[in-house]
Amino acid sequence: MIQNFDDDARPVMVIGGPYSNLRATVAAKAEAERLGIPAERVICTGDVVAYCCEPDETSRLIAEWGCHVIQGNCEQQIAAGAEDCACNFEDGSACATLAKGWYPYAAAHTSDEMRRWMGQLPDTFRFTMGGLSYRVVHGAVSGVSDWVFGSDKELIRQECALDSADVIIAGHCGVPFITRSGRQTWFNAGVVGMPANDGTPDVWYGLITPTVHGAVLSTHRLGYDHHGAAAALRRSGHANGYARTLITGLWPSLDVLPQREREQTGRRLRAARLALKSPSAMAA
Ligand SMILES: [Fe+2]
Repeated sequence: MIQNFDDDARPVMVIGGPYSNLRATVAAKAEAERLGIPAERVICTGDVVAYCCEPDETSRLIAEWGCHVIQGNCEQQIAAGAEDCACNFEDGSACATLAKGWYPYAAAHTSDEMRRWMGQLPDTFRFTMGGLSYRVVHGAVSGVSDWVFGSDKELIRQECALDSADVIIAGHCGVPFITRSGRQTWFNAGVVGMPANDGTPDVWYGLITPTVHGAVLSTHRLGYDHHGAAAALRRSGHANGYARTLITGLWPSLDVLPQREREQTGRRLRAARLALKSPSAMAA
């Protein structure tokens, strides 16, 4: 089914990876309320649970919020009772080692009720608004756990070629970006549950604001009680590397990052904004 969002002039909010970070998810919901965006115009790109320490509480908050949610690799794996996150980390890498800590914790602290909720979520979502078509995926069009970063233009071109949508919305990689690829656009709204490795504790979300001729895509930073989130994570006794990240804004491992994103480590990210015209407005 393709949802139509033309019934309302308010923006659509996109949130990536809540990652079991309850305080950050509460802040994202409060931000939606501050902006006057109702739950039916909020889309979560998956990985509701991951690195932080309140997987069940965070899942419950998202479920009760009633926004659109697609499965990330974490929901798929936990719903299936799998033994790892299927993040495509290289064997022996720091990310793979870290995942041996947080994934079993997330799986063990997710109730059967929330596990069932994860299992019934769709793996993709399509909508139209302002004459533009949108497809929401978790990692990439070709695979839920595939890494798509903004610097990899050739991969983005290949992934866009797999779908006819004007805009592909994805999460998973943890760094917000907006980039054009021919007539199509790739929009990663970043994640709510971890900073973006830019040396600040802020997290990110995205907006799609309808306009007369199409839409404006934008990324936004969000401050929240990151000291409280880090303290809770330390108290839980797991993933202390990520507890540090919540404070410093620096990832514990750069394994998955391409060279250009590695070079961005510790450099404050700028918010991005891109105005899009619908195909019919272009033709006119
Ligand atoms: Fe993911």
